[in-house]
Amino acid sequence: MSTEKTKNIYSLAASILQMLEAENDALKKLYRQADAVRCHWMGDDVFIRGILEFSNICANDCLYCGLRHSNRKVRRYAMTAEAIMEVARQMAGTYQTTIVMQSGEGQGLNDATLGAIIRRIKAETNLAVTLSAGNRPRETYQYWRDCGMDRYLLRFETSDADLFRRMHPDCTLAERLGCLRILRTTGVQVGSGFMIGLPGETRDTLANNILLCRDLNLDMIGIGPFIPHPDTPLAHEKNAYADNDEIFFKALAVLRIFNPRAHIPATTAYDAVFPGYGRNLALQRGANIFMPNSSPAQYRKDYLIYPGKPCIDESPGRCAACVVARIHGLGRHVGQGPGHARGWEVRPHANGFKPE
Ligand code: 5AD
Ligand code: FES
Repeated sequence: MSTEKTKNIYSLAASILQMLEAENDALKKLYRQADAVRCHWMGDDVFIRGILEFSNICANDCLYCGLRHSNRKVRRYAMTAEAIMEVARQMAGTYQTTIVMQSGEGQGLNDATLGAIIRRIKAETNLAVTLSAGNRPRETYQYWRDCGMDRYLLRFETSDADLFRRMHPDCTLAERLGCLRILRTTGVQVGSGFMIGLPGETRDTLANNILLCRDLNLDMIGIGPFIPHPDTPLAHEKNAYADNDEIFFKALAVLRIFNPRAHIPATTAYDAVFPGYGRNLALQRGANIFMPNSSPAQYRKDYLIYPGKPCIDESPGRCAACVVARIHGLGRHVGQGPGHARGWEVRPHANGFKPE
């Protein structure tokens, strides 16, 4: 790396660290700035993107995740194609223009079954399709793209390669970043992000996480506090910022300022830490997307990535109505249309063109 570039990164990291220290008036100013940047680049629309947790079967053993393979307490499930289609049809009628299909990693539903479901959703509804199903080979990503997948979410979780290795027995940071690079070449909109406060992380890690999002030039960025799950090896660990939870919002605000044009959701974990209002505050401090739980009620308690997930006893219809009320309560509007990343339609490969 050139000395000039190295210097530049150091000074960016230094300004992020300074922003993360903001208190009192400086903190209010930080939040105001993040909200103004969001409003300027993304407008006042909040897009509603329902998450369908279609399978909790997972082959991996990420130390933080309640769905890890070794957690024998989880009752595993994979929804049928028909049940998934039923949810997709209902979503299309409740202000939702994107279905976010999330699962564990591995073959809860095999690649071809998932491909066929993507095709059906694209043919039978107007929904944009986002998938989040972990590290996969290029051929699989490309195949799903050919089936009509619009977006893919794959968080890098932490930019610290050592910490990443400790948290993920099944994968390295380099492999994860490799998947993100491959995804970019397929023409899908690419989302990533990280957890805030993994045990052993420092503020430098956090600053570097924010910078990595910027370097990856992401279309969507999801971040949220790490929450220890009782049935994982991290059960007795604390969030690295347990005594300073304001930093979860500071990180979000700085993320917005450094990634003005990305779609940034107010993630569920904010409501788990600040019940009933965390996501509302997130929407006022940089976020512009709300991702309600759209999984059928019967599966919700079996998809506990972390404890304290809200809406476990709610029905999808109630969540959709509640979210609209929350958005209007903030004086914002519900986004219409698919809410694709800016300029996506004219990007090379975006319209199904296959690279050699
Ligand atoms: N606390 C907070 N977030 C978690 N995730 C997984 N486990 C936890 C946890 N214990 C996040 C990861 C993953 C996303 C689906 O949920 O960032 O990518
Ligand atoms: Fe589920 Fe409010 S988002 S009830």
